[in-house]
Amino acid sequence: MSRRLLFLIGYRGAGKTEVARLLAPLLGWQWIDADAVLEERFGKSIRQIFAEEGEPSFRNKEAAILQELSQLQDHVVATGGGVVLRPDNRAALQRGHVVWLQAPSDVLWQRMRSDASTAERRPNLAQGGIAEIEAMLSVRTPLYEECQDLIVDTSKGNPALAAEVIRDWLTSRAHSSCP
Ligand code: S3P
Repeated sequence: MSRRLLFLIGYRGAGKTEVARLLAPLLGWQWIDADAVLEERFGKSIRQIFAEEGEPSFRNKEAAILQELSQLQDHVVATGGGVVLRPDNRAALQRGHVVWLQAPSDVLWQRMRSDASTAERRPNLAQGGIAEIEAMLSVRTPLYEECQDLIVDTSKGNPALAAEVIRDWLTSRAHSSCP
């Protein structure tokens, strides 16, 4: 396997962190959550950064952290849902394999509502409910599409199954001529 780095991308609620946690041991790699690295580095929750400094400041921090994480080897990286918005970030993602975790907007909405960390740590991206998620997805879907090497629908099965599907895909990729 030439690139021993894999990024999970997709909207909030798609299952990136959970799948990263389950996938890494299947590959014998480590996993890391880009948002958690950012919060630890800057000593503030993402919600605080949005509130005190604004979204552009958060996006600058996110881009800097991604540049660092894209140098890692033997890692699965769970990214923030908006990481694909900047062209430089999309280029950095190409240093690894990129898997787009998807789920229908109503499933994303249900998951976001039942995730306690959403309210505490993240800005209120979904006060507008499913309609707002769909509006965000209409902007982001072409960007996720542009970056991805594999799409996995996490509304079918469970995170453990998604992790196995990705492991099998990566293993077969390693044995084919794909870079
Ligand atoms: C964001 C998603 C969040 C976090 C930030 C912005 C977004 O990550 O990076 O609140 O723009 O979709 P998750 O996808 O892990 O919630």
